[in-house]
Amino acid sequence: MAQEELFKKLVAHCKEYGFVFPSSEIYDGLAAVYDYGQYGVELKNNIKKYWWDSLVLLHENIVGLDAAIFMHPTIWKASGHVDAFSDPLVDNKDSKKRYRADVLIEDQMAKYEGKINKEVNKARKRFGDAFDQAQFLKTNARVLANQEKHDALHARFVKAINDSDLDELRQIIVDEEIVCPISGSRNWTDVRHFNLMFSTEMGSTSESANKIYLRPETAQGIFVNYLNVQQSGRMKIPFGIAQIGKAFRNEIVARQFIFRMREFEQMEMQFFVPPGSELEWFDYWKKNRMNWHRALGFGEDKYRFHDHDKLAHYANAATDIEFEFPFGFKEVEGIHSRTDFDLDSHQEYSGKKLQYFDPETNKNYVPFVVETSIGVDRMFLQIISAAYTEETITKEDGSTDSRVVLKLPPVLAPVKLAVFPLTKKDGLPKKARTIIDQLKFDFNCQYEEKDSIGKRYRRQDAIGTPFCITVDHQTLEDDTVTIRYRDSMEQERIPVNQINEIMKEKISLRQLLEKLTD
Ligand code: GAP
Repeated sequence: MAQEELFKKLVAHCKEYGFVFPSSEIYDGLAAVYDYGQYGVELKNNIKKYWWDSLVLLHENIVGLDAAIFMHPTIWKASGHVDAFSDPLVDNKDSKKRYRADVLIEDQMAKYEGKINKEVNKARKRFGDAFDQAQFLKTNARVLANQEKHDALHARFVKAINDSDLDELRQIIVDEEIVCPISGSRNWTDVRHFNLMFSTEMGSTSESANKIYLRPETAQGIFVNYLNVQQSGRMKIPFGIAQIGKAFRNEIVARQFIFRMREFEQMEMQFFVPPGSELEWFDYWKKNRMNWHRALGFGEDKYRFHDHDKLAHYANAATDIEFEFPFGFKEVEGIHSRTDFDLDSHQEYSGKKLQYFDPETNKNYVPFVVETSIGVDRMFLQIISAAYTEETITKEDGSTDSRVVLKLPPVLAPVKLAVFPLTKKDGLPKKARTIIDQLKFDFNCQYEEKDSIGKRYRRQDAIGTPFCITVDHQTLEDDTVTIRYRDSMEQERIPVNQINEIMKEKISLRQLLEKLTD
């Protein structure tokens, strides 16, 4: 199936099965804002718990925080967001559509990469086992020509971005003959900066109102509380502060469903370290965070690092963890060595010292910071994309059927167990409810009695429920039930008093967390 078609199906599935709805839908929606439905909120909460426990439970030197969204406006001056948190924008005069100039150019580079991959795939088919990819990449004329164009464009783009040279960005778009996907024309305006922060006013009358910003990242709430946490928790460096919360960005190119939203949620951790040790810690957190993703079992080749060509104003090293979405490899998480930029700047703007006294060296210093920053919504999209599976099933009589199943890691599944009475009579519903009453304290369970068992299985597959239990007449005689496993669709008969044990073993977050400590 074409990846574009797959992605459309995924978006439709999320709505149909209560995972994600467009915000304010009955008023025709609000661009790039989404609401999470009854299953979406459960999945989201499970993702957050996996992240939180992997940091706060597994590291005795990491603690949590929940800072307010509203913060003193000077914070955003000190952090550099008022002056530098902007995207380079360009408008197409014919379609009146607005684009990020850097994204148009990155898409053009991806086109050259796509052409190279196409040549490689063609040659692989032609030469079969004898195909030597390394040799082909070095010698094929079409590959070399596209590689040369790609590299020249890349070098020019990196220089323009690093120099913040907006005229050059426009010139690249013109020289590369990039067209607007809507109008097909090359009628571009100048490129200019656009600040991404939302602002509002605090205060009851216009004279006393103060302009404040909705935070564009949660990190600053951690920086301005660094000393509060360090002193009240008697934390010794190195230590970390973790936080989950909403962030807001007036994104210009808001697209790809919940990949780029205007209101979203971040999970950020700032790790405070002695100056000079930051690059070692940067490597540590790179490995740690990649393991966290890979432990979910979607496949090692689905992830890669992408080191930044242009470092943000605060960083001396930065990388992204990218996941292969249906629309290509894209950033899910950023790991940044932010130096002492933020604490230093807050010292300067607030006039308050934000230093650490090191009892071993008897010296004061401003700690350096390594940050890990991941979007909850992007992680949600990663998981749903990896889990969405369409299968053809061959039945016992040889006929075929199809099913859509979300192969979610059981620990993240919104509903863990569905219990079905085979029929609505003979005391089977009552028995099914007794089973749920025993299990509901530990697991999110669902009771279903409508439609055939087959239809009920399909509905649970579609929301990713890993276990379904059927209560039948034999249950009333010997207290056994049928358990059906989502992925293999295998069924077995087990005693009712074993359900809890089986579920605990297969659904424990502990098992997942233990993989991170190997
Ligand atoms: N404190 C550093 C920071 O905010 P970032 O790379 O701008 O860094 C970190 O954002 C993560 O937040 C991204 O990797 C992404 O997962 C998520 N994110 C950023 N902008 C987003 C948006 N508009 N919609 C959804 N998620 C977003």
